[in-house]
Amino acid sequence: MIDETNFYELPYIFVSNLTHMFTHKPLRRFITLGQFIIERQADFPFAKGELSRLLRDIGIAAKLVNREVTKAGLADILGDMGETNVQGEDQKKLDVYANEQFINALRSGGECMAIASEENEDLIDIDSVVSKDAKYVVCMDPLDGSSNIDVNVSIGTIFSIYRRPEHLTGPTSIEDFMQKGVDQVAAGYVIYGSSAMLVYTTGKGVNGFTLDPSIGEFCLSHPDMVMPKDGAIYSINEGNHLHFPEGVKKYVKYCQEIDKETKRPYSSRYIGSLVADFHRNLIKGGIYIYPSTLKSPKGKLRLLYECNPLAFIAEQAGGKASDGFNRILELQPTSLHQRTPLYIGSVNMVDKAEEMMRIYSAETANH
Ligand code: AHG
Ligand code: MN
Ligand code: MN
Repeated sequence: MIDETNFYELPYIFVSNLTHMFTHKPLRRFITLGQFIIERQADFPFAKGELSRLLRDIGIAAKLVNREVTKAGLADILGDMGETNVQGEDQKKLDVYANEQFINALRSGGECMAIASEENEDLIDIDSVVSKDAKYVVCMDPLDGSSNIDVNVSIGTIFSIYRRPEHLTGPTSIEDFMQKGVDQVAAGYVIYGSSAMLVYTTGKGVNGFTLDPSIGEFCLSHPDMVMPKDGAIYSINEGNHLHFPEGVKKYVKYCQEIDKETKRPYSSRYIGSLVADFHRNLIKGGIYIYPSTLKSPKGKLRLLYECNPLAFIAEQAGGKASDGFNRILELQPTSLHQRTPLYIGSVNMVDKAEEMMRIYSAETANH
């Protein structure tokens, strides 16, 4: 009989042996997501394997979603469902598919007691038999950047995991989700791009895994990811310029000024998929801003399943995340779909943007 570890070794053994047979090159060990999670399990204070299984379930759902994303142009899966989600935005078919895949994976995995999803107004209580001892709640944006699906631009999934607070007993309620970002036990995202990648943290650094389609496994490709302290890219929807707070207008002007020493002007890059913009800035250095605007005074992005998980990853990689004045991870949530302005990326760039906000837009600080 094979145990769990051996099971995860199988693709590696199989592929390494094949490679060896045909090339006679030395065997190169690569680490799959499943292996890595199990190896790192001991790092985790409550390590009994539940969190590992939860992460593994998310990895499996991500592969199913990636399969559909890559054939979206072929299958009759594009286009509006003709329904709107709780934010009043049009839902695409893939949003619905991704939501179902992640919910099903978490429901059958047995470690998740409730889910908060962008696509569902209320929390999803999981009361299956296998989940009766579950201790974790998950917040997720099952498909981020969905307006980019139809045009073959990268999209993503964002997730955030909390343990149930000890003082709560009985059925799950919204209280289970009203935890600050600092209390996350794990967070991550999947980017469905030119490759599919899964990046996650459990509070001990950030690691990235690229899907090898030939074996259907996420393999460790970006160990110990570090966000450069400075960058030369700013990402913001400049179409909203007239509606920006004065501090953001001044910061954008600063990015565009010429200064050799600080390598300005910076490049402007805005994909319109938060995951993709964040992922690029994580690797190259940069800042992403979605500020409050006259139209959306609290910003557009959602605290629980967009800002908190990416803020956790940014900080773990040496970056920073703020609402313009306060650390994102210390904001107290009061509702499932709460919005917040977001300034996230290289630490020196976020510091500079905050400085401009303090000087020119102190009146917009709303926390
Ligand atoms: P979602 O597709 O989950 O609704 O998220 C879209 C978000 C985010 O991904 C992106 O950065 C931002 O909306 C873009 O908004 P604008 O079009 O207003 O710039
Ligand atoms: Mn989103
Ligand atoms: Mn979404």
